[in-house]
Amino acid sequence: MCSGTVDFTDLEKKRNEHFLGGGKEKQEEQRRKGKLTAFERMKSLFDAGTFVEIDPFVTHECHEFGMENKKILGDGVVTGYGMIDGRLAYTFSHDFTVLGGSLGWGFASKVCKIMDLALKQGVPIIGINDSGGARIQEGVMSLAGYAEIFHRNVKASGVVPQISLIMGPCAGGAVYSPAITDFIIMTKSAFMFVTGPEVVKEVTKENVSFNDLGGAEIHNEKSGVAHFLAEDEQDCFAILRKLVSFLPSNNLEDPPRVAPKDDPNRQDQELDSILPSSPNKPYDMEAVIRKIVDNGDFLEVHKYWAKNIIVGFARLDGSPVGIVANNPEVLAGVLDIDSCDKATRFTRFCDCFNIPLVALVDVPGFLPGTGQEWGGIIRHGAKLLYAFSEATVPKLTVITRKAYGGAYCVMNSKHIGADYNFAWPNAEIAVMGPEGACNIIFRKDISEAENPEEKRSELVQDYRERFSNPYIAASKGYIDLVIEPKETRTRLISALKAIYKKREERPRRKHGNIPV
Ligand code: HXC
Repeated sequence: MCSGTVDFTDLEKKRNEHFLGGGKEKQEEQRRKGKLTAFERMKSLFDAGTFVEIDPFVTHECHEFGMENKKILGDGVVTGYGMIDGRLAYTFSHDFTVLGGSLGWGFASKVCKIMDLALKQGVPIIGINDSGGARIQEGVMSLAGYAEIFHRNVKASGVVPQISLIMGPCAGGAVYSPAITDFIIMTKSAFMFVTGPEVVKEVTKENVSFNDLGGAEIHNEKSGVAHFLAEDEQDCFAILRKLVSFLPSNNLEDPPRVAPKDDPNRQDQELDSILPSSPNKPYDMEAVIRKIVDNGDFLEVHKYWAKNIIVGFARLDGSPVGIVANNPEVLAGVLDIDSCDKATRFTRFCDCFNIPLVALVDVPGFLPGTGQEWGGIIRHGAKLLYAFSEATVPKLTVITRKAYGGAYCVMNSKHIGADYNFAWPNAEIAVMGPEGACNIIFRKDISEAENPEEKRSELVQDYRERFSNPYIAASKGYIDLVIEPKETRTRLISALKAIYKKREERPRRKHGNIPV
């Protein structure tokens, strides 16, 4: 080194070596699979020129199985921070080109460091997963590394948003970090499983492919593990950016309000005729949502799973809200095990991060049958009741049609703490539907009548007129206002403003015991 000058040769050499990851050939192989490299993903994720890498020169310290000859700078993960639409986030990105992105102690320490920094600063943690799981050669050090990460995932839960992008394999214990995070976005070619096809075959004799076992479609449609299905990696980043736009950076901030581009007093006449003439016919609840929210813009979460309930983010006069809506087009909008789980997790997420909740209710009750009872619908339904009840964010409800029985109570009723409850004039608020109710309370009258069918329909008609309307509930203050469907947007915006600064204290306790 010359005096007065600094010799950058070593640094440059190390940097170049680091950027090669597992080598040119492996990077090319990664691209052939339609995947970006770990560095390219960082560039795609963050605003141009904002990514700052830390710990590029970390290596593992393993000497087993010839590992001393396989030291690669960065140890298989790229970590750092950058800006997403001008807002700070910390990120790690697995490098599959280095030992299959497998996780050892050095790798895990890097991930833990950026998780700690994100938590101190109060900003989201975004994980890009593409890994063969625990680095087998490092034995218990890999397991310890995972557990250190899981522990931080739990500590960060409800404090900063945590989002997992799954862009390749995610196997074994590796699945549990994403599982604790708030949202999982999977590209179509990614997969996740606890035990792979070979072990499955050995244990259960079942022959199953990677995709059929844990592909992106499986986790979006069947298991509910994933929240979003991305066509490809660019789509994955686009979903992430949109999702982040609704979220505060941490639990002490309000969600980011944008300048509204839609008239708060806009009325949608089509809502007045959206309900079919028969109360047993379905209609498009997603269309109802889009007609109410700003610019019809709705980011649906868990779009392909438990479709009898719809959850997602939208804005009302520029402020983010979380929407939970029964979907009459699937199973008549009934609540079952999966839909309760889906709505519970979403409701609790919104409550953690100060996002007001809007429930759109059209629910004929809980799904009957041994499948549901044996599967624990009591437990799962109780979760949703618990979630709405414990939420202290502003809570608004609109009953568009049916609100029967226990499902009336569960779906953000006044009695479990909703702040504003509206109903459309056709709303039916009753212990159960007219047919079921009459079969129970008038069984004798019907069977002994000269014409039982005629008698039943008379009684059903009478019941409907007496109980299946919103006015009894409104007369008791359980419904604050019966509104015309077309004015739903205006009413919700006005109510949200009237309760936005809500502060609700609960008794001090370590934590509640939600019936998981
Ligand atoms: C060490 C690994 C590895 C691992 C892959 N590699 N997984 N090295 N530990 N877990 C290495 C391979 O040896 C190979 O090295 C390179 O990464 C690429 O792997 P390939 O198999 O050639 O790639 P591909 O055909 O694309 O298959 C990818 C894969 C497969 C499906 C992920 O590698 C695989 O099944 N890996 C094991 C997955 C798994 O069962 N993980 C669970 C581990 S146990 P070379 O040098 O040949 O290029 C676990 C428990 C953790 O995670 C518990 C925490 C609580």
